Amino acid sequence: TIEAVGAREILDSRGNPTVEVEVLLDEGTFARAAVPSGASTGAFEASERRDGDAGRYLGKGVEQAVEAVIEEIGPALVGFDAHEQRLVDQALIDLDGTPNKSRLGANAILGVSLAVAKGAAAAADLPLFRYLGGPNAHLLPVPMMNIINGGAHADSGVDVQEFMIAPIGAASFREALRWGAETYHALKSVLKSRGLATGLGDEGGFAPDLPSTKDALDLIAEAVEKAGFSLGSDIALALDVAATEFHSEEGYRFEGETRTAEWLTSFYEGLVGDYPLVSIEDPLSEDDWEGWTNLNSALGSRVQIVGDDLFVTNPERLQRGIDSRAANALLVKVNQIGTLTETLDAVELAHRNGFRSMMSHRSGETEDTTIADLAVAVGSGQIKTGAPARSERVAKYNQLLRIEEELDEAARYAGPSAFPRLTR
Ligand code: PGA
Ligand code: ZN
Repeated sequence: TIEAVGAREILDSRGNPTVEVEVLLDEGTFARAAVPSGASTGAFEASERRDGDAGRYLGKGVEQAVEAVIEEIGPALVGFDAHEQRLVDQALIDLDGTPNKSRLGANAILGVSLAVAKGAAAAADLPLFRYLGGPNAHLLPVPMMNIINGGAHADSGVDVQEFMIAPIGAASFREALRWGAETYHALKSVLKSRGLATGLGDEGGFAPDLPSTKDALDLIAEAVEKAGFSLGSDIALALDVAATEFHSEEGYRFEGETRTAEWLTSFYEGLVGDYPLVSIEDPLSEDDWEGWTNLNSALGSRVQIVGDDLFVTNPERLQRGIDSRAANALLVKVNQIGTLTETLDAVELAHRNGFRSMMSHRSGETEDTTIADLAVAVGSGQIKTGAPARSERVAKYNQLLRIEEELDEAARYAGPSAFPRLTR
């Protein structure tokens, strides 16, 4: 039973304020959760509440969201059974009363939702992945490690937001993580040898100034081989284009030219032919439904097409995407929708309709590792949580090491089966 709920304003990995929530249950169990925050946020995401007081944290303070937890949400939840996650989350949605959680704030609501789940797991004396996933949770995800950052996450001239490596050929998560870290270090020396910058972007990847998408892919391909791995069978590649960021009424402003959805689709088709790409996220903008459907019919049998800004972890938008065959995978971000229950509903809807799911961090993160447990709980087979460097990213990968160790012989690493192209 929930006895008390508290909250405070803490800092995220970009030095911006975010909400941390603490829940106390009557058996003395205590749990804490912190809320992440995006930079390339989708227009259809649940609404993150910021104070807007320019005198504090450039208007980004979250004192009102913290106050909403302490004054309104807490008192409303006292007496609820923490194991009744669906009832707790419905109470939060009802208390807020808006379609996008803007009154109390999705950041206030999500913090409470996650802290309640963690409290319930602790009260049941189970690890979170086991509490949420049940006795059969055993699949360790492929870590999609973002090693070159562009777009809204870096000041480089690179339009594509994320260049990821996927160590599909590893035998375990632990080995996959080592391969990723070794490739990351190899990439650093490749960049240095070319006189390119080795400063980092928001998600811990390098942020060199590069003329094109292909240049970035070539540098990564070189790093993979320099680290001693075979490109494609050991380590595959993936992109998050985050195309909404460079889309306007005129079209897609990409690598110095204005392009159409058709042009980008054939561009990606060329990339899929030239590089071992297993996944492309947000190849087009969040409202280009027709473009997505055409792109998915051209490429969806060869590569995973992931909707992030398009679906915003929202079951209604996902249903539209399923009906129109706009993609074949769902990116899962707990703070896009704002409660754990709705997140689990979105994943279930995806899986039931043959969509894959990729668990995801945000570019603004904290030391909270809930998404690592969530990835194993729902059997995503894929997680993206940044580079194999910087503690707010590595915290999630480290938690997956612990989960793999705990599962011991029962653990299975997803490997190539996580992606459509490689299972054909
Ligand atoms: P964001 O970026 O957290 O800044 O939205 C992550 C992504 O686009 O996947
Ligand atoms: Zn994205």
